[in-house]
Amino acid sequence: MDNSPTEAEQYERIRTRVFRSSDEAVRVVAASIARLIRERQEEGRNAVLGLATGSTPLKLYRELIRLHREEGLSFRSVVTFNLDEYYGLPPQHPESYRQFMEVQLFKHVDIPTANIHVPDGMVSRLGVFECCLAYERKIGDAGGVDVQLLGIGRTGHIGFNEPGSAIESRTRMVALDRLTRRDAARDFRGEANVPEYAITMGVGTILQARELTLLAWGESKASILRAAIEGPQTDTVPASFLQRHSNCRCYIDEAAASELTRFRSPWKVGPVKWAPLTVRKAVVSLASDLKKAVLRLRDEDYAENGLAPLLVETGSTYSLNIRIFNELQHTITGWPGGKPNADDTNRPVPAEPPIKRVLVFSPEPLDAEIGMAGTLHRLVRQRHEVSLAYLTSGSLSVPDAEARMAFSLLHELGVSQPDSLARLGALAEETEKKAPFDEDSPELRRFKGLIRKAEARASCQILGLNLERVRFLDLAFYEQGRYRQFRWGPDDVKSIAALICLVQPHQIYLTGAGADPSSIAGIAFQLGSAALRTCTSEPWFPNCQIWFYASNERPWPPHEIDMAVPLSPAELAIKLDCLYHHRSQRSQTPFTETQAGEGWQQAEQINRETAQHYDRLGLAEYEAIESFRVHKESAVHTRLR
Ligand code: F6R
Repeated sequence: MDNSPTEAEQYERIRTRVFRSSDEAVRVVAASIARLIRERQEEGRNAVLGLATGSTPLKLYRELIRLHREEGLSFRSVVTFNLDEYYGLPPQHPESYRQFMEVQLFKHVDIPTANIHVPDGMVSRLGVFECCLAYERKIGDAGGVDVQLLGIGRTGHIGFNEPGSAIESRTRMVALDRLTRRDAARDFRGEANVPEYAITMGVGTILQARELTLLAWGESKASILRAAIEGPQTDTVPASFLQRHSNCRCYIDEAAASELTRFRSPWKVGPVKWAPLTVRKAVVSLASDLKKAVLRLRDEDYAENGLAPLLVETGSTYSLNIRIFNELQHTITGWPGGKPNADDTNRPVPAEPPIKRVLVFSPEPLDAEIGMAGTLHRLVRQRHEVSLAYLTSGSLSVPDAEARMAFSLLHELGVSQPDSLARLGALAEETEKKAPFDEDSPELRRFKGLIRKAEARASCQILGLNLERVRFLDLAFYEQGRYRQFRWGPDDVKSIAALICLVQPHQIYLTGAGADPSSIAGIAFQLGSAALRTCTSEPWFPNCQIWFYASNERPWPPHEIDMAVPLSPAELAIKLDCLYHHRSQRSQTPFTETQAGEGWQQAEQINRETAQHYDRLGLAEYEAIESFRVHKESAVHTRLR
């Protein structure tokens, strides 16, 4: 097989394979690991695997377990070395990486315990250096790592080698970056509970493996992957050092690949077919890069930036500029449910029927509010029948401190029945006895779910929603699991499909299409899509528009937006008030610079950025904009694209 890069890959300094879905990618990676294990077994030798934790390798581990169960792949001769471990967590701690590996892989296969190595998170401070040296020695004694699996953090870390890590760094103790701790806050129910230190293999240790396999899914990884794969080698993006390795491969899905040059600006890597969307993308990218309004782009701007072929294809610069300006202009609407009695030829939403049944799905409480609170508010004010369904209870992300506040309130109120008081007392005692990130009893989870319902109702009232149309599906998959351990099934799909059929909506709003498939938003998207597939023969379906709303993962550039709903300063203030009512989700850390990263602040920033982007392109200047994309299956799809 020819291994040299193709023309499309010319900007990439690490060989990268892009897959339509993470499922396809993990099948390929698992098959290659299985091949290695079997070859080694035939030679009577061990296979040495370097393993990673986090969301990214979850599906790969499930596939390896399947190969073990269904295709007889044995792990008897496999030796493993994990990349890292939180400092201060004992191996049996539910959030330790040793425990993660046990639950996600080891206990399901026949690997001997003696072959498993994870850095010791409990070694005394004085013993850390010696312990790290010993870890490196053990890797050497095992013959070195054959294949090292890697994920990438949003800081560009590999293992826990945060920005600033040297290329020669070895196994050592490190302080975790703020962004990394914030990303782990969910698992630990609050950033304050996330350990501050970890022990990690160094970049130099990782680079010694004979083969490196980096996996990444979802649009939240797109920009850091671009920096790692196409950018310069620098310790500000430690993953960029992987470019030094002669046998490193990235296996990523389309959402994670979206910022690579071959997808972001395909015209730079070779001839392209100028489909309408590619044209829009090229013009918007050119205007954005040159910081010029679309209508001010000149012939030489196109010519000097590799876009002369586009002009040949489309005629004059003037008509091309006007065309794209109009297309962008037509995405903007203050009438997300359609403008009654108006000409809707160029509007993203038809005028009829004037009153629409709208069904919005929120993976957890707060997601729909982050993506589309302003639009929800408009839809309600414009008299549409808006139903909002929260798919999961969201109980897993309620810190104990919030539950304690509610206990105290109820206590003061003097809950009348003695047995209620006793139950409340038992719950309060549970929060006192357990560590903040220990697993909750089902009763405590239910209680925390009630807190999120109360917050959600309060925020819905701010938006003017009729509470009778606000539903909490409490999907079973979420109630049985922990983050990263969810298994969903037909019952979850049925609950969603039943609600869709009950409402018979004219519009459905979903999110999560570009999310990590193991995240709640990613799972919610898969469930929602499966539910929609069961509805396609319903009589109302052909007239139903299906929209995606954006999350906080990445601001969508205007060429990716099919409907842009502007928010006035007053509407933005209402949105923020609504988000702020989800108080259990606010940071527990009092006023520090980390607050800039809170969900409600990110949402505000993204909505403002989108508005500024439209403004820079020469369109009207709004305070903020919420973004929507049309679903390919949707009735409006052909009308818009
Ligand atoms: C985990 C590790 C980390 C993760 C990275 C991505 O052992 O070493 O580098 O791979 O933080 O995490 P996820 O996969 O959760 O996005």
